[in-house]
Amino acid sequence: MTVNGKTYEHEVEPRLLLVYYLREVLGLTGTNVGCDTTSCGACTVLLNGESVKSCTVLAVQADGADITTIEGLAGPDGKLHPIQEAFREHHALQCGYCTPGMVMAVTSLLRENPHPSEDQVRFGLEGNLCRCTGYHNIVKAVLAAAAAGAGSAPIGAGTAGAVPTGGAVAGGGAR
Ligand code: FES
Ligand code: FES
Repeated sequence: MTVNGKTYEHEVEPRLLLVYYLREVLGLTGTNVGCDTTSCGACTVLLNGESVKSCTVLAVQADGADITTIEGLAGPDGKLHPIQEAFREHHALQCGYCTPGMVMAVTSLLRENPHPSEDQVRFGLEGNLCRCTGYHNIVKAVLAAAAAGAGSAPIGAGTAGAVPTGGAVAGGGAR
């Protein structure tokens, strides 16, 4: 599979979950594990441009897929993606544990619907839980990111696997 523009090939056990492949085989620990039972969204990544909970996907199911994790969102020069910038600017995190998954779900949401209403943001993120923020600043950040045109910002601009602007994405936030 391709992860953040790099191709990887490994033999893995059929039962290995994608999230553990990313974290333990590839060392991409930005994708968190919160519940392991498809409830919290901390493990959200993009699979072929669509947000999925990577604790719900077997690594072997992602064979040949194009995966983007939080590590692949910023540019190679470290310049934050506008969604990350909006989260920083609007204090949309406290402990930050939910944040990588939240940001990936927002990425999918804004690519599908670049200018959502507040209700659409809340609905789109219903599969991503945050224990700290009460969601208020997260929603504020998402609306600010939308206003800044984050929905059409390239992902990982400049990396080999940059996801082009305006790709067809279905599903919004991971559920
Ligand atoms: S760890 Fe995957 S949804 Fe919670
Ligand atoms: S910032 Fe702590 S869980 Fe969301």
